[in-house]
Amino acid sequence: MLGTVAVVGAGNVGATAAQRLAEKHLARTVLMIDVVEGVPQGKALDQWQSGPIEGFDARVVGSNGYDEAAGADLFVVTAGIARKPGMSRDDLVKTNAGIVRSVAKEIARVAPQSIIVVVSNPLDVMCYVAMRASGFPRERVLGMAGVLDTARYRMFLAEAMDVSVEDIQAMVLGGHGDTMVPLVSYTAVSGIPVSQLLAADKLAGIVDRTRGGGAEIVSLLKTGSAYYAPSAAAVQMVEAIALDKRRVLPCAAWLQGEYGLRDVFCGVPCKLGRRGLERILEIKLSDAERADLVKSAEAVRSTQAMVDAG
Ligand code: LAC
Repeated sequence: MLGTVAVVGAGNVGATAAQRLAEKHLARTVLMIDVVEGVPQGKALDQWQSGPIEGFDARVVGSNGYDEAAGADLFVVTAGIARKPGMSRDDLVKTNAGIVRSVAKEIARVAPQSIIVVVSNPLDVMCYVAMRASGFPRERVLGMAGVLDTARYRMFLAEAMDVSVEDIQAMVLGGHGDTMVPLVSYTAVSGIPVSQLLAADKLAGIVDRTRGGGAEIVSLLKTGSAYYAPSAAAVQMVEAIALDKRRVLPCAAWLQGEYGLRDVFCGVPCKLGRRGLERILEIKLSDAERADLVKSAEAVRSTQAMVDAG
């Protein structure tokens, strides 16, 4: 169990993540930080009061500043505006870069040894902003996207084959956008290659639906974006770190030559443990998958350059 995990942003993703962290006993104190006065305090008190029913002892507290987060072990950064119908994640870049930059500076000030899990969009570019502004090494700045995109892919596959989601192994790599790369060649049902169980056209349809998974929810909700699955995905990463599990999960990481890519954040298989990113795993890809991964990383790089320029 960690000492303090702070969630920055007490909106839908942040507040749901805080509740999940407390219920999973991952921290002694779960701190919600948000600029809106009263909201993080109110949501935190409400969540803390669910402790006697749900059986958790974590203190859930809220604040409007960062001093309460002094020495925190880990920050989940969800701050920023969310997409509305018709918007791409990249449409959020200018507004959210300003927000994430100031958040990361505060984190570095109050908890210089902490680990940052970024959730704000556009995800990969916000990881870059957080790493630059905090000055943290790549081991301590990771982005949540691959776990979410993979969960969507696994859910669609489980539905199509009418099998348990637990038996579906899969991984979605690349940037968190339309160019993400579901790895069909590594998709299996209890070890059985998915191509033996699902027709190619059905599989292609699921790959497409996965790529548009976030937009599908935005178009249904109309006033915001997904938060139940995104918060669950972020908390799975926190769990792997808090419990030093060495889980292999697809996360956005700063690439330094892996997969032939350099100086760009992109979703790749990462081993997560108590130090954060313990290792990036380089796996064999088909020529088509490799080309798709490079294309996806280049899409991130061009948005990253917008932040550099601005
Ligand atoms: C999504 C948003 C959170 O994929 O990016 O739902």
